[in-house]
Amino acid sequence: MTPDRDREARAILARNDRGGYTVPTAGLYPYQWNWDSVFAALGFAEHDTDRAWTEIETLFRGQWDNGMVPHILFHQIDPEYFPGPNVWKGTGPIPSSGISQPPIAATVVRWLVGRHPGGEPRARQLFGPLMDWHRWFMTWRNEGGAIVVTHPWETGRDNCPDWDRPFAAIEPDGITSYHRRDTSEVQTDERPNSWEYDRYLYLVKLGAESGWDEAHLKDTTPFRVADPTMTFTLLRATRDLRALAERWGQPVAELDGWIAEMEAGADRLWNDEIGAYDTLDIRSDAHSGVISNASFLAWYAGVGGDRMLAHFDRIAEATRYYVPSTDPAHPAYEPRRYWRGPVWAMLNMLIATGLGEAGHADRARALTENTRDLIARKGFAEYFDPRDGAPLGGQTFTWTAAVWLAWASPTTGRLTWAA
Ligand code: GLC
Repeated sequence: MTPDRDREARAILARNDRGGYTVPTAGLYPYQWNWDSVFAALGFAEHDTDRAWTEIETLFRGQWDNGMVPHILFHQIDPEYFPGPNVWKGTGPIPSSGISQPPIAATVVRWLVGRHPGGEPRARQLFGPLMDWHRWFMTWRNEGGAIVVTHPWETGRDNCPDWDRPFAAIEPDGITSYHRRDTSEVQTDERPNSWEYDRYLYLVKLGAESGWDEAHLKDTTPFRVADPTMTFTLLRATRDLRALAERWGQPVAELDGWIAEMEAGADRLWNDEIGAYDTLDIRSDAHSGVISNASFLAWYAGVGGDRMLAHFDRIAEATRYYVPSTDPAHPAYEPRRYWRGPVWAMLNMLIATGLGEAGHADRARALTENTRDLIARKGFAEYFDPRDGAPLGGQTFTWTAAVWLAWASPTTGRLTWAA
């Protein structure tokens, strides 16, 4: 079974390749998504390093003047997709959305150059743009070292229960009828509901009307939430950027400052009531009280010691496949609905990486084997039901194929992060 999965995974990357960039899956997501693309690069690196570099370079071609790297680049317009470039009104060199996504690129660039030193000149070209992107986060999205988002889509965890309370405080004025594309592609019980969707569009409208003016949004947007996905991936990526800076004799003082700020900021995400990291709504100063798979990225960021270990063990025991995107013990848990319960393989890869680095090799191995078994049995779905592994959402999905090749496959998965 396994060698077929390797071949299948390579075929999925090839099929979703649009020439220089990869779509997450045909139909549902017809454009280049930021972190999907960086995961895709890891998958390509298994058999085509040149193509891996190109994927990241294409992403950075969409970087805005202010340093932001958009969450979607609309390379070839697909009139069927909603919300498209006319709704977003991005202001960068390529039509794009106006928000970013978890910054895993510096981490993957470090890994790629460590494994394939021939790519060094290409990696060096990316150093300045990566610095500019990280500086954008630290300038506009930094609340005492905790990194905030201005739209749930920015975290990559679109409809997780963390947004329920901040969303309840928002009245989505001026959002009239619209036609969703996602629910024609995927069953409605596996996607966000319309109450959420109205608010997603309202926040896009606010940003677009401001011309994506970060200073203005910082003062006025009702949605400003510090998030573990953003804080932990940026902290980790900044450590990797620092390693690259050292490698190339670049100054590290600014990077050291950011790392220290985020190490302190991670503490702001700690919720004593549940004994876990969660989101913190800056507008209301309230924690969400939700343990998510992103809470377990603390090890990946190198913070927190073993503070999350007991929750990890409890949740790993609770479901056949783990790590579910929402704690099954939480009342908002829905095992089939997107980020409210299902397992996401690429997050598992980051969590296992962190566990391994923090000295929990047994748990890292168990999570890797659990994900291997899931994909080997159920294929390359977008996400999976934690109870039985039922494949959900889009199929032939790029990042599931990529993390199989880079990490979960017993034959090709060789991911180690040391440079
Ligand atoms: C959804 C996911 C997000 C991903 C995108 C494309 O919006 O929540 O994380 O980047 O789809 O796959």
